[in-house]
Order: sequence, then structure tokens, then C-alpha cells
Amino acid sequence: MYKEELQEIENKCIKCFKCNLAKTRTNIVFSDGVPNNKMMLIGEAPGFYEDQKGIPFVGKAGQLLDKIFASVGFSRNDVYICNTIKCRPPENRNPLPEEKNACYEYLKAQIEILKPKIILICGNVALNTMLPEEIGITRVRGKWFDGPYNSKMMPIFHPSYLLRNDSRTKGSPKWLMWQDIQEIRKEYDKL
Ligand code: URA
Repeated sequence: MYKEELQEIENKCIKCFKCNLAKTRTNIVFSDGVPNNKMMLIGEAPGFYEDQKGIPFVGKAGQLLDKIFASVGFSRNDVYICNTIKCRPPENRNPLPEEKNACYEYLKAQIEILKPKIILICGNVALNTMLPEEIGITRVRGKWFDGPYNSKMMPIFHPSYLLRNDSRTKGSPKWLMWQDIQEIRKEYDKL
């Protein structure tokens, strides 16, 4: 049931020329994982490898994300993965407001179709889209927020940030991510 509805939105993205990123993309990057009503992860934007393959989180950050999930027994079968914007910004720069605005209807549709009970907001770009009035990720990560369709949303660090901050000592970003993923697992197990 989800599949046809999502396919319709993906087809719209494939034909989308609402912003300049359409001119430079190789592929749109719509989603990975299994469409389900339990858990969705919203990342930032496709990078080089994602743009080449048309699949989110397949580069180094994606490999770390898979490890973080695996540490509590999750795999891509347990989560629907998408991004705030569907096309790669040149040189991996942050998406511009007009790019995020142009793409928002597709993210909104993905959420509306699946109505996931848990939404993981991965990094500042997703955070500023889903919780525009909140401040930075460091202040709000690990906290639950009320989301659309009665969902619970938790901001988490982006794996690219963790790649740049390798320490695992108590209180470090990696250590905090370990706390957050365990909390997410607990909440997921209640579903
Ligand atoms: N970073 C993201 O936020 N999304 C991807 O798909 C890849 C890297």
C-alpha cells in the first residue's frame, strides 16, 4: 500500500525542476530501508556517492550510521531512510533555504504516507526543517519532541559530525550517540 503512494512521489521528484539542483544532479535520492509506520530517519542531503547511486547514506557517514544501528540490533529493514532534500548540493554545501522550501513538499508527503511513530532527525539541516524554532543539535539531541501525526521525534547527531569527532570518552559526541540510540531502541521496543 505504501509502495505505490511513495512511488508516485518519487516519480514527481524524478521529474522535478523546481530548484537549480536539478541541473547538476546525477540521480534523485529518494529513500532506502523499508517503508513502515514505525521509524523514519531524516538526514541532510545526498553526497557524492548517494548522487551516483540514487541511495541515501551509502558513503562513509552511511557506513557509520549502519554501525550505530547495528549496535542495538537495528538494520535498514527496521527504518525508512530519507533526506531533507533529494538532490545533491554542489560540493556538498548546505542546502539553501529555497532548495529546502522547494523540496519540503516531498518530505512532507513521505511523512504523511507513512505516519511513522518515531522520527529521527539527523543533524542540523533536518533539525532546522522539522523544528525550525529550536537552536542547535547539541542542545536538543537525545530529547523527545512531539512530531506530526502523533509521532515522537528525536534529534540525533549526524554521522558526518561523529566522523570528525572520534573520541569515545564519556560526554563525547560518539558517547552521546550511544546513549541516544539505546533510548531509541527502548522506545521502538514499546511499539
Ligand atoms: N548525509 C546525509 O545526510 N544524507 C545522505 O544521504 C548522505 C550523507
